[in-house]
Amino acid sequence: MQRDRVVTIFEKGAPGRRAFTCPELDVPQVDPQQLLPAGLRRMAPPRLPEVSEPELVRHYVRISRRNFDLDSGFYPLGSCTMKHNPRLHERVAGLPGHARLHPLQHPSRSQGALELMYNLERALGEVAGLPHVCLQPSAGSHGELAGLLVTRAYHEDRGEVRTKVLTPDTAHGTNPATVTMAGYTVVKVGTNADGGVDLDDLRAKADGDVACLMLTNPNTLGIFDPNIEEISRIVHEVGATLYYDGANLNAVMGVSRPGDMGFDIVHYNLHKSFTQPHGGGGPGSGPIAVSDRIAPYLPTPVIRRTDSADGPVFDLVAEGLPEGAPGAKSIGRLRGFQGNYGCFVRSYSYICSLGGEGLKEASQTAVLNANYLLARLQAEGVREYLPLGFGERCMHEFVLSGAPMKKELGIKTLDLAKRLLDHGFHPPTVYFPLLVDEALMIEPTETETKETLDAFADAVVAILREAQEDPSIAQNAPYTTPVRRLDEAAAAKQPVIRQPLPA
Ligand SMILES: Cc1ncc(COP(=O)(O)O)c(C=O)c1O
Repeated sequence: MQRDRVVTIFEKGAPGRRAFTCPELDVPQVDPQQLLPAGLRRMAPPRLPEVSEPELVRHYVRISRRNFDLDSGFYPLGSCTMKHNPRLHERVAGLPGHARLHPLQHPSRSQGALELMYNLERALGEVAGLPHVCLQPSAGSHGELAGLLVTRAYHEDRGEVRTKVLTPDTAHGTNPATVTMAGYTVVKVGTNADGGVDLDDLRAKADGDVACLMLTNPNTLGIFDPNIEEISRIVHEVGATLYYDGANLNAVMGVSRPGDMGFDIVHYNLHKSFTQPHGGGGPGSGPIAVSDRIAPYLPTPVIRRTDSADGPVFDLVAEGLPEGAPGAKSIGRLRGFQGNYGCFVRSYSYICSLGGEGLKEASQTAVLNANYLLARLQAEGVREYLPLGFGERCMHEFVLSGAPMKKELGIKTLDLAKRLLDHGFHPPTVYFPLLVDEALMIEPTETETKETLDAFADAVVAILREAQEDPSIAQNAPYTTPVRRLDEAAAAKQPVIRQPLPA
């Protein structure tokens, strides 16, 4: 193995090597001693790697190839909507007016950016069927927190103190985590035999202490709950808000709108449905949309449009908003600046290039692709080992149970997932939702071809056949990846996240 392959960038290079030289200073030079208090000044320069450009490029290209990525293979990670990220959006986001805009630029000199954000708010509001949008949250989970904070502000404004938030037992882990973080108590609601909310359980638990019900529809089983109007009625009757976890919006864009279903608050994952690239902890965006009665509590500053004889003028406003207007009784700022602007540009490009009909077609194709793959995986010879957890059809994703496969063939869902890597596919989500034993959650998205879906189904069939002959092959997979099977418990409990600098 080349030495290069196993060392960090800090162990490469030699003193004096450079991949970049700074241009001449074009502003007056200031002595750092005058700028920073003594206690905050470094005693010695930081030990940065000193490498040439080829070393730098090779290092990061090599690392990138050790990862599985959407640009090189099918990535059916359920609930994550790993769809293709069109290159057009990168070109638009890379335009200097977008990419080089300084976050502290005065609004009068960033009119185009504010207009884009204002228009994105309107477009997202249309998709959700809720008129007031705030772009600030940086992730779906951050949108969830924003949703619960505005819920609390709404109730407090009415003199109500509520302590509980309901989440179904199919909910994504971020829902109960957010509830706890926001200071509420999590109360689980059961699932009925069809995979929807158990209405009797909901009725029993919905009382005057409940602040909110957080729901996805379709839910994480890939099932659209037909009782949504009744659910909305039960929740609103006790004065609680109904929150839509929009991570599954890719199933319904342009087809049905959470606002029309009775939801008060929605979050979007721009890095899922709206093609902002995601993964690896990169920048995300989880805007929220709310109804009129929740709007006054939205985070500020809000983007205001004023029409004048010279055309529209956009501004950021936090103070003096008229009663009832978005942000008038704001919970305040959620983060620095207005959000991850590059995500806004890409998502707005996506919405503009597809249009309303295109978004609808994207969702319809996502549902069609998922049902095609489901049909292939429920064919004779597969469904005996991997039956569908709930229902017969699905929306944009579906959850199989690997329990019979484990019993009959001796390979677990994890073994199947690891063996899929040797076939060149990223594994689906495993062991979630918890309701399905040995769960395998598959979301193909609309951007995959029939050939890819067939190849994936063929790979699953091949792995099942192989396990009938010799289960140890899957049990010890993967064989072709840069690292073999890791001790995931140790990686989580004793992560090695520091490496000493070379002497
Ligand atoms: C159903 C569901 N809800 C919420 C989230 C949280 O979104 P984010 O990862 O952007 O915080 C996810 C993310 O995977 C999800 O699948």
